[in-house]
Amino acid sequence: TRAVVLISGSGSNLQAFIDQIAAGTLTIDIALVVSNKADAFGLIRASQAGIDTAVIEHKAFNSRHAFDVALQEKIDSVKPDLVVLAGFMRILTSEFVNHYSHRLINIHPSLLPKFPGTNTHQRAMDAGEQWHGASIHFVVPEVDAGPIILQGRLAIKENDSVESLQNRIHSIEHKLYPLAIKWFAENRLSIENGQVLLDGET
Ligand code: GRF
Repeated sequence: TRAVVLISGSGSNLQAFIDQIAAGTLTIDIALVVSNKADAFGLIRASQAGIDTAVIEHKAFNSRHAFDVALQEKIDSVKPDLVVLAGFMRILTSEFVNHYSHRLINIHPSLLPKFPGTNTHQRAMDAGEQWHGASIHFVVPEVDAGPIILQGRLAIKENDSVESLQNRIHSIEHKLYPLAIKWFAENRLSIENGQVLLDGET
């Protein structure tokens, strides 16, 4: 499986992929990492792992469409089987999303369909939720929707802050995202009636 990983920031999820690839527990080839921000720390993580990187700054384009076309051209230049959004903080056009139908996945820090969008940890606490978590899903044009591959759940503690909650969510993400990608790479995921099946089972 040839993958392209899109990032905007720290890239700790990217690091989890790199570590599992090095450990032999994830057998994919990350052909390219693309960031929409030149100062994303994840670019350094990629370079240190010997992975090609590219920066395509959305600010340089005068429309979302023009940015997505440039992004798509860059991604398609390495002919990936899978495109992984790992902390990529841009909304993508439906043209882009449909081009990568069934091979574009995202991680979102909430128990979707609860709390799409930003500030999920604060919103979950404000809503008095007992549980919070992270979801990995196939991307559809609607933001933070799409068939869910895997979710990890944790209990919100009384003394949790945004930071403490976010830290625990991150450690769940770093376990779940490589696993979801492994399933994809092993051809174990299919989509039926808008639902993900693992090994053909509900
Ligand atoms: C993750 O929490 C992810 O769920 C969200 O952005 C964060 C990315 O973190 N979409 P990192 O860049 O992988 O460290």
